[in-house]
Amino acid sequence: MYKLNKSQFSFYTLYTPLFFMENLPFNERYYQPPYKEMYRRSLEESESFWREMAQGIDWFSPFSKVLDSSNPPFFRWFPDGKVNICYNAVDRHLEFRRNKVALIWENEKGENKILTYYDLYTEVNRFASALQDLGIKKGDRVLIYLPLMPELPISMLALARIGAIHSVVFSGFSTQAVTDRINDAKAKLVITTSHTMRRGKRIELKRTIDDAVSQTPSVENVLVIKRDEEIDLNEDRDVLYQDLTKKKIVKKVEVEETLSTDPLFILYTSGTTGKPKGILHLHGGYGLWTYLTTNWVFDLKENDVFFNTADIGWITGHSYIVYGPLQNGATTLMYEGVPDYPNPDRWWDLVEKYGVTVFYTSPTAVRTLMRYGEEWVKNHDLSTLRLLGSVGEPINPEAWRWYFKNIGRSTLPIADTWWQTETGGIMISATPGLGNYMLKPSANGLPLPGVDADVFDENGDPAQSREKGYIVIKRPWPGMLAGVWGDPDRYVNTYFSKFHNVYYPGDYAVKDEDGFFYILGRADEVLKIAGHRIGTREIEDVLISHPAVAESAVIGVPDPVRGEVAVAAVVLKSGYSPSEELRKTLLDYIRSALGSFVVFGGLYFVTKLPKTRSGKIMRRVVKGVISGAPVGDTTTLEDETSIDELKKSIEEFSKEISQQKKE
Ligand code: PRX
Repeated sequence: MYKLNKSQFSFYTLYTPLFFMENLPFNERYYQPPYKEMYRRSLEESESFWREMAQGIDWFSPFSKVLDSSNPPFFRWFPDGKVNICYNAVDRHLEFRRNKVALIWENEKGENKILTYYDLYTEVNRFASALQDLGIKKGDRVLIYLPLMPELPISMLALARIGAIHSVVFSGFSTQAVTDRINDAKAKLVITTSHTMRRGKRIELKRTIDDAVSQTPSVENVLVIKRDEEIDLNEDRDVLYQDLTKKKIVKKVEVEETLSTDPLFILYTSGTTGKPKGILHLHGGYGLWTYLTTNWVFDLKENDVFFNTADIGWITGHSYIVYGPLQNGATTLMYEGVPDYPNPDRWWDLVEKYGVTVFYTSPTAVRTLMRYGEEWVKNHDLSTLRLLGSVGEPINPEAWRWYFKNIGRSTLPIADTWWQTETGGIMISATPGLGNYMLKPSANGLPLPGVDADVFDENGDPAQSREKGYIVIKRPWPGMLAGVWGDPDRYVNTYFSKFHNVYYPGDYAVKDEDGFFYILGRADEVLKIAGHRIGTREIEDVLISHPAVAESAVIGVPDPVRGEVAVAAVVLKSGYSPSEELRKTLLDYIRSALGSFVVFGGLYFVTKLPKTRSGKIMRRVVKGVISGAPVGDTTTLEDETSIDELKKSIEEFSKEISQQKKE
């Protein structure tokens, strides 16, 4: 039975609901929370519920059917309805929000750009027209490799407008990761820029693309967005965005009347194999889900300024910098930089400058800022904030308390939103927009309307209250992934096989007697480094592609700031011997293949790895030995002595390294 740690309970566990009600504006204090009734209706009268909810977005032609379940688990929402997410995010606001700020962008240096909905409309049309000039059509895949600059959401919206499929790759990924993604999607076009600035240092981006596209036959052109200075171009392939749009008077590019089931984007994420999964989302279901969940959780009103600190290269930015807020006609702020440069109050500067009201970040960011101390917060007026959010990994009680006290003035609710790339939008959280401010520290909250969540034990039976098990979603919801790009079997096997026809997210969870969910972390071999998802197999595959490496096992170990970091145990090929230099070479090799967000806590050379009789590496045992945790059942081990060998080689190697360092 899973017991909540005592420190997770506090004064607030008992009193937060009342406490937060007291802090609501007077006229809302006695407001009957519609959450409960909506949740009931969403499951018991789901057909009429979704018909009603779908009216929140604009349709070119209505759907006759809410859900096509004829071929489970390939569910299709609003199958014959016609809808385009770009229209809902941009065009439909021209009537009443034409001059309202849609997008605020700022960089490390404090340069900014502010776009109204009309500006956004003009820019999206300009971009869409450039895409058409390059021959991009409905259904074509286009890879976007851009930092958080305004052209990132603009290009996404422009591609959606013409019915093309975008695949944004986080600009921290390196060549091999980009190459694999281009090849998997068979992208016709890549959109990039010269560089971004990080902590005052220039990070080259176009060079990564130049290296990648030499190995990607599908790419016909690279569309390059110029920033300040000249860029080297490959004349046969590269096109400068500014050249393409120089003389053009922007004319309206008709919105493609896409079907609800037409693909909107592919976003690659890590799984348990070495090959990333292209998670596919569609115009209608994803569009409606991000529209609704933004409203239910972040409760955005006309005067709000929403600041989500995520990168658009991950799902959090797709759903809650771009599509959710814009479909709601909100003002969304994007910041191209890190929170602690030039100083650790960079975000508080922005909150003060733009009067941010709703703020959404990750536990890793909170822990990072916590280390610099409260002084950096105190010098700022954060009184405009009225709601906070957390996402990406479980938030530990210490970070929760710091966030609540220092940013939330010991008053503001923190929505601890649990969801995934695959779920499209938030699944479990407090829902202030539905009057549900019920919070318990360490709990994510109750499922959102339409989310039929439960916790199952290993046999697929509902777990007891507070018993640790696997979170499952028992029926389809509009934001769910539509598939894995080009690999229907992987979709079925990964998500719908562990428990028959029930969506399996791969997380451990408990549910308490009030129906609150507590997500405890991944149940599979996927790491969460600073909230970034990376599969251990993906890192191992890179390691064994190095000529010196015969075998490797990568595991995650806890880290006080990043939540988790990677540790590798490496067996060398004969002819190579362990050294500090080789260790550094291998770490650099991983960084240059995948990206520097893959942070390592250690890399050990060992003589042997523990394996099962069928030859599978037992990472659980490696983890136990390295982190000092119990190794668990070892009856399936092929060779019991491998544990001692592993311990011995780790000790020897550590000694050797410290000796080498002394010398
Ligand atoms: O393990 C859960 C964790 O992040 C995973 C999903 O990662 P990704 O697809 O990259 O999306 C991250 C942003 C939505 C989940 O399977 N996770 C996400 N949010 C939380 C969380 N774990 C605990 N609490 C959360 N609020």
